Amino acid sequence: MTQAAALEARGLDKAFGTGAGRITVLRGLDLEVRQGEMVAITGASGVGKTTLLHVLGALDQPDAGSLRLAGEEVARLSEREAAAFRNRQVGFVFQHHRLLPELTAMENASLPLRIRRVPRGPAEDRAARLLGELGLAERLHHRPEELSGGEQQRVAVARALSGDPALLIADEPTGNLDDAASGQLLELLAGLHATYGLTAVIASHSSQVAASCDRTFRMEAGVLHGGT
Ligand SMILES: Nc1ncnc2c1ncn2[C@@H]1O[C@H](COP(=O)(O)OP(=O)(O)OP(=O)(O)O)[C@@H](O)[C@H]1O
Ligand SMILES: [Mg+2]
Repeated sequence: MTQAAALEARGLDKAFGTGAGRITVLRGLDLEVRQGEMVAITGASGVGKTTLLHVLGALDQPDAGSLRLAGEEVARLSEREAAAFRNRQVGFVFQHHRLLPELTAMENASLPLRIRRVPRGPAEDRAARLLGELGLAERLHHRPEELSGGEQQRVAVARALSGDPALLIADEPTGNLDDAASGQLLELLAGLHATYGLTAVIASHSSQVAASCDRTFRMEAGVLHGGT
């Protein structure tokens, strides 16, 4: 692996057994993402983008292949080890924010640190700082239902990043947002990318998303094409 690779996936295979037979989703897929690089994954619905992101984020195991992330081989971790690894090294943003409804923006954003037993004070300071950078300084004590869709998604980004992960994984992060809110979210992500060298893999149908990334891959028949 090259010195600066944050993520190196080699020969990933993944299939699902279903009532209708076996569906092969990843077929010897390779991907290398350098430190500080933002990569977009596009492709038709059902082609396997979400499956790939779950494997890359150690949420799901590949059937074969290797995955090095943040210097560790993660493809064969036990469920417990994978959970601990994810808490430290991976931040997820999904199409729907998945914030906890009873917690405020600041409490939601500080959760990864609280799970790591960082005391409330410093965890919330860190969360508040990130929320401020995401334009939510006036929304720290709002609960998700008191926020707009774009604001909810920005809280989800703050939560994904508060633990300072090696990799941000975002699955259609702008899928539920209008053009203006999407543009704002992407601008903020690009800003974090520029300021902190954020490393991210983002699946999206949106050409707006692809345009704000360093490289774009198209997923087809279980592998990635393009990436220039
Ligand atoms: N847990 C599962 N069990 C069985 N089949 C699955 C499972 N998860 C995904 N699949 C199948 O794998 C294929 C890829 O699904 P995936 O969700 O990764 O696609 P996608 O590219 O993210 O699609 P979309 O753009 O609609 O989100 C689909 O055919 C889906 O039905
Ligand atoms: Mg998907």
